Amino acid sequence: MGGDTDFAQLFARECGIMVPENELKWRILRPTQDSFSFAQADWLLNFASRYRMQLRGHTLVWHQQLPDWIRTQVNSSNARQILLNHVNTVVGHYAGKLQSWDVVNEVIEPADRRPDGLRSKPWLESIGPEYIDLAFQTAAQADPNVLLVWNENHLEGSDERALAKREVLIKLLREKLRRNIPIQAIGLQSHISGTSPSFNNPEFIRFLHTISDMGVKILITEMDVTEVDLPTNIDARDQAVAGVYSDYLSTVLREKSVIAVLTWGLSDRYTWLSSYLPRTDKTPVRPLPFDSNLNPTATYAAIARAFDQASVR
Ligand code: XIL
Repeated sequence: MGGDTDFAQLFARECGIMVPENELKWRILRPTQDSFSFAQADWLLNFASRYRMQLRGHTLVWHQQLPDWIRTQVNSSNARQILLNHVNTVVGHYAGKLQSWDVVNEVIEPADRRPDGLRSKPWLESIGPEYIDLAFQTAAQADPNVLLVWNENHLEGSDERALAKREVLIKLLREKLRRNIPIQAIGLQSHISGTSPSFNNPEFIRFLHTISDMGVKILITEMDVTEVDLPTNIDARDQAVAGVYSDYLSTVLREKSVIAVLTWGLSDRYTWLSSYLPRTDKTPVRPLPFDSNLNPTATYAAIARAFDQASVR
C-alpha cells in the first residue's frame, strides 16, 4: 500500500478499521525461531492510527503461511513453548493498540474426521487439542483489553460442510466458555459464493442467535464474493455480487451482537481472489466495493445501504 498513494488515500477516506492481510502471519513475522520481524505490521499500524482507524490482528494460530523452519524445528517437546512464546510476544508488542485479535483461525476441519471436529495438523498434532485454550489464555494475559476472536471459514453456507462446522463450533464454544476460556467473539470470514442461496433462513439465523445468547460478539472478518460462475457481462455480474452482499449483510446485521464488518480488501486492484479463484473466462474478478480503477461499484452502494438500515450498536 505504501507505494500506491491513490489507494492509500481511498483507504484512509473509506475505512474505519484495517486488518493486515499477511503482515502478522508467522511467514512474515517469524523469519527464524529466535526472531520477530514487526517492521511491516508496525508500518500499517502507524498508517491506521494516523488516520484514526482501528486495527485488527490476524492471526496468531493458523495452519497456513507458516515459515519453513516450523516443519524442521518444531516437535512435540518444544511446540507448546514455541506457540505460547509467539502469542505472548506478538500480543504483548501490540498491547493496548488493537481492537481485536484473531487468536485462532480455521481450527475446525470436519474432513479430518476427528470426533471433536478439530483440524488435526500442525498444532494439535504436536500439542494436543488444548492448544486452542492455551492460546486464548496466553493472549488474554498479554493484553487484557483486546477483544479475542475465534475466526473461522465456511460457517455461512447451507452445504453439508458449513452445517457440520457450525455444529462443531457451537458445541466447542459452549464447552470452552463453561471452563472460562476467554473467547469473546466469533469471526465469520464470509468468503461467499456469488451463487449462494438466501442467508435469510432460520437455520443460519438461529446459529447467530445461539452465539449471541452465550454473550459472545460476532465479527464479519473477511467478506468478499467469489464470482467464478457469474456472467461475463460486468453489469449483470456486479448486480449479482452486490445482491449477495445485500442479502448477507442485511441478515447478519439484524443480529445486534454483530459489531464489525470488514471486507477482505477494498479494491479489485488488490484481491487474493485474482489468484486463488480466477474466472474461467479470464476476465478480472470484481469481488470488492471498489473496482480496479478505484471507482465504487454496486457493491459499495449495497454495503452503504445495509449500514444505513442497521440499528445503531
Ligand atoms: C490470504 C491472503 O489474502 C493472501 O494474500 C495469501 O496469499 C493467503 O492468505 N482466509 C484467511 C486469510 O484467514 O488469512 C487468507 O488470506 C484468506 C482466507
